Amino acid sequence: MKLALVATLLFSNSALGAPAHNEQTALLAGSGAPPNYEPDQARLPQFDANPQDRANAVAVRKAGFTYGPSLVGEAAPFPNGTLGNARAKADYDDWSIDRKDMDGRVLADIQIIAQAIQKNGGLKSWKDYETILYDGQLQHSNPRGTAPGMISNATQDLLFSMERLSEHPHAVRRVSPLEPLPFPLDDAITSKIVGHKTSLESLRKSDSLFIVDHSYQAKYNVSTVVKRYPVACSAYFFIHPDTHDFLPLAIRTNVESDLTYTPLDTPNDWLLAKMFFNANDMFFAQMFHLVIAHDVTEAVHQAALHTLSENHPIMVMLERLMIQAYSSRPVAEELCFNHGGHWDQLMVFSQSGARQFITDHWPKDGKFQGGYLENDLKTRGLTDENGKILFKSFPFFDDAKAIRDSYKVFFTSFIDSYYKSEEEVWGDFEVSNWFIEAATKAKVLDFPRRDQICKKTLIEVLTHFAFATSVSHHSTNGAAPITSGTLPFHIPAVYQQIPKEKGVTDLMPYLPDVTTALHYLGFMASFNRPSYSDQGRTLEQIFDDKVSLDRFNAQTKNASQFFYQDMHNLSQQVRSRKFDSHGMSQGSPFIYRTLDPAYIPFFCAV
Ligand SMILES: *[C@@H]1O[C@H](CO)[C@@H](O)[C@H](O)[C@H]1NC(C)=O
Ligand SMILES: *[C@@H]1O[C@H](CO)[C@@H](O)[C@H](O)[C@H]1NC(C)=O
Ligand SMILES: *[C@@H]1O[C@H](CO)[C@@H](O)[C@H](O)[C@H]1NC(C)=O
Ligand SMILES: *[C@@H]1O[C@H](CO)[C@@H](O)[C@H](O)[C@H]1NC(C)=O
Ligand SMILES: *[C@@H]1O[C@H](CO)[C@@H](O)[C@H](O)[C@H]1NC(C)=O
Ligand SMILES: [Fe+2]
Repeated sequence: MKLALVATLLFSNSALGAPAHNEQTALLAGSGAPPNYEPDQARLPQFDANPQDRANAVAVRKAGFTYGPSLVGEAAPFPNGTLGNARAKADYDDWSIDRKDMDGRVLADIQIIAQAIQKNGGLKSWKDYETILYDGQLQHSNPRGTAPGMISNATQDLLFSMERLSEHPHAVRRVSPLEPLPFPLDDAITSKIVGHKTSLESLRKSDSLFIVDHSYQAKYNVSTVVKRYPVACSAYFFIHPDTHDFLPLAIRTNVESDLTYTPLDTPNDWLLAKMFFNANDMFFAQMFHLVIAHDVTEAVHQAALHTLSENHPIMVMLERLMIQAYSSRPVAEELCFNHGGHWDQLMVFSQSGARQFITDHWPKDGKFQGGYLENDLKTRGLTDENGKILFKSFPFFDDAKAIRDSYKVFFTSFIDSYYKSEEEVWGDFEVSNWFIEAATKAKVLDFPRRDQICKKTLIEVLTHFAFATSVSHHSTNGAAPITSGTLPFHIPAVYQQIPKEKGVTDLMPYLPDVTTALHYLGFMASFNRPSYSDQGRTLEQIFDDKVSLDRFNAQTKNASQFFYQDMHNLSQQVRSRKFDSHGMSQGSPFIYRTLDPAYIPFFCAV
């Protein structure tokens, strides 16, 4: 007992102030009852019966994980060291099981499609892309099919605009009163589209003007592996003053003749402009996903690997959320961003542009607290001064918020069950070290400061962490690409000189050829994980795992059942979405089900 007391005091953080110190001493002196942990259960460091062993184990792990350079652009460090390398290898081996499964499925599907294309004598029309590539296809790799309406209603303006509020929700922002207008548009044209005398300025004044600005992409290098032509589109959207629908207003290409297209152009010209935009937006979504899901969580988790014991309840939780996590960036380096890899072959910009994107976006979009759902929406001006959403329908927000809220309820129980008081939080020297490590060596941006540590902060941190591995990841990657990155509308790149003037008559030259289309289709499908629900690996099943659940206390186990119920309910809600009599669902001509908790994984699976 005497040795234990000395060790606890040694490894506790005396700078943390009196309460913890006193309480700890009091507990060890026998005047208070430490929690009654079952033998294998996770426990707080100040109540660990073997503080010396525990501290030694933390030190061993800290020495075994070092911070290596970032992978894929300059963002979060990647683990190095003996344990770091072993972890990365083990994660890669785990991921390889999924890869083998998915490769087999994709290959089977692509063979069937290739035969259908051959039988048809090629992909000769827009309709061919829709039917031959998707109708009853991809049954192995994407058995639930693409989102209803996503292909049949692809050319509708409302599909294009509502994708900003559902399938591709991370790039849109309101044009601020403080910035120069991103690009000009004649009042006469604006008025005609809106159907009222109006201007960009008047739309802006009524908080109704929005932009997705991908003009920064113009500086990225194009690939020389397969000839493609760069675009770097920016697009205005607006809230209609009468219907309150969210609609597209104009698209500027920002390259070559720098044409600005609007819905007043010929149907072909306008459709082509939207397709150009889609190429930039898919590039954005895939690169952004690395920042907001992988880089953010890996940085925070590495800080934990250096500071939290594997017996710490928070660590047990983080480990569950981070299964396979260190496979993703090595896989990305190996298959996506290698020379001549998927990016060089398929996407609008090459792997060097992809790396540049990460390096450019990490300082802003890698911010931890900045990524909290409401903080992010506020920064982008999508809420009003009272925090109310500006749109009459915001499908992404509805589901993202439901998942976030359920996690918050769960983590509130979790934190309350482990820490009986704020003093016990302050007495947790491992958590204190974690916060210090995160902000310094692990290079987490915008993590709460150590002097902000309290129950509320811990709940928010864990909630956002779990949000990042579920919502952030699977709104961009996972099943999202095969669901919404559908041809012929969502082209990954442009395969034909950009028009110098309007009046395009034939869109076919802008579509990927058969080889590229099949490659792209297979690539998009490869992120999907159709067998996860059978394997107990979906979001609603996060606590099905006995190994980690058994290590938690009774309150946490109880809370996990409510989390399952909540997620199962949300899934049923998602699965019951149908078209109304106007062919609409949540204000969109397609059905949004990208965040179905009984389908998406709870972790960054790929
Ligand atoms: C990983 O750590 C080893 C040993 O410290 C070092 O030699 C090596 O350069 C590191 N690797 C990277 C990529 O930093
Ligand atoms: C872009 O390409 C040029 C010419 O090949 C090369 O010198 C430059 O380093 C590339 N830029 C980046 C960011 O990779
Ligand atoms: C179990 O969780 C529910 C919902 O959070 C709560 O109302 C109930 O009190 C909890 N029961 C126990 C024993 O913790
Ligand atoms: C889930 O839905 C059922 C039936 O609608 C309801 O009784 C139950 O309270 C819901 N559970 C949660 C956790 O929301
Ligand atoms: C969208 O597509 C679905 C399925 O093809 C159809 O039932 C619905 O009417 C379409 N909606 C609109 C607005 O065209
Ligand atoms: Fe990913």
